[in-house]
Amino acid sequence: MSRSNVPDAPSIHGLWATRWVFILAAAGSAIGLGNIWKFPYITGMHGGGAFVLVYLLCVLLVGVPIMIAEILIGRRARVAPINAVTMLARESGISKRWGLMAWLGTIAGILILSYYSVIAGWALHYVLQMASGAFVGADAATATNSFNTLKASPLLMLGWHTVFMAMTIFVVARGVQAGLGRAVTWMMPMLGILLFALVGYAMTTGHFMQGMHFMFDVDFSKITGESVLVALGHSFFTLSLGMCAIMAYGAYMPKQQSIGAATLITAGMDTAFALLAGLAIFPILFAHGLSPDQGPGLMFITLPLAFGGLPLGALFGTLFFVLVILAAWTSSISLAEPFVAWAVEKGVGRVKAAVLIGAVSWFLGIFSLLSFNYLSVDVFAIGGKSIFEAMDFLTTNLLLPVGGLLVAVFVGWGVKETKMMKELGMNNQALYIAWRIAIRVIAPLAILAILLNFLGVLGTAR
Ligand code: PHE
Repeated sequence: MSRSNVPDAPSIHGLWATRWVFILAAAGSAIGLGNIWKFPYITGMHGGGAFVLVYLLCVLLVGVPIMIAEILIGRRARVAPINAVTMLARESGISKRWGLMAWLGTIAGILILSYYSVIAGWALHYVLQMASGAFVGADAATATNSFNTLKASPLLMLGWHTVFMAMTIFVVARGVQAGLGRAVTWMMPMLGILLFALVGYAMTTGHFMQGMHFMFDVDFSKITGESVLVALGHSFFTLSLGMCAIMAYGAYMPKQQSIGAATLITAGMDTAFALLAGLAIFPILFAHGLSPDQGPGLMFITLPLAFGGLPLGALFGTLFFVLVILAAWTSSISLAEPFVAWAVEKGVGRVKAAVLIGAVSWFLGIFSLLSFNYLSVDVFAIGGKSIFEAMDFLTTNLLLPVGGLLVAVFVGWGVKETKMMKELGMNNQALYIAWRIAIRVIAPLAILAILLNFLGVLGTAR
């Protein structure tokens, strides 16, 4: 039986106060380190334009339809993802084992949180560094050394990782509305404005066009099967899909809100933030003669350089990193929420559940942070990758796409279609049909093809 005719079944966790709050929360989850830190560095590592194009296609053809499907599951069931999927499966008369898909996602969230917090910790460190004026007039060597010093100090990293994890637990424990709701309202626009300003600065470096060419000149010879998989994985990571975060948030979405419209706004803002970050970072990088394949340090090296050369750079640099942390914070809470919501429904107190999952994730994060120093690739490698790289690869490029594939098959083929168009708030028949085709055929086939292609490449490489 569809629940769409129930007036508005509230969730035991409460609802977002207004439609706008849902969008802010979803955008808060989506916009984070993935846009500002990760997107530029993986674009740099995978050769630029062609990678960006594949990423954009993945967002549009795979990410958007799956985001709609995830929100739909959440809002229809109004419970934690694990229970929501089980409930819809029962309603539709299909196997309850589908619930395992949400388990997979919930666990992926905890794993991602473990290293996400380590990187957010770096940003915390940079707030102090910036504020101390350490980068005023800095050159490329100073900025690079400063980053290397951080990577070589496990204790420093552990301290900041601990602080960030505590911040995450604090908000998740307070519950979603009392948590970051208010802060998101003003900080996202501010981050946007600062990014715009940085792009403006990048235009003055004399290397803006080089940055544009790097990001938008499509040369397919530069990408491999792995690059395509990374682009797909990133489209999930950046939109917070495939691990039930948006599904969990969907459970608190007001009934009258249009899921289609909310998705388009969220995905649009997320993509804009990523492209802006790239347009700010690459010209600065080229202006200082640095190479784009720096890896995870890219943002932490280029931005201090940019701010170091600007009037009031210490001030704006500090502000920028504060905003990056806020963006990461509104994302990290959504990584923990699927588990916490489930635990609360099991009768565990919210605070207890948040502390528990934070502790587990914090502990796992230690291995990632050690992989930048004591446990580096030459000491401990998993398939040629460091622990951090392997964690990221496994979660982002394998677990998330598999999670997304399952969501697509579940909603496209498993869940009864009755009233679905009305539930989505789509008034346009053609749009609805386009979504149905995307969720049933395009998204699953694209994910499968990319995963199989990657496995095939692996197979022949061995
Ligand atoms: N989307 C977030 C970012 O871009 C990270 C994230 C991934 C959050 C998965 C929730 C779920 O930083």
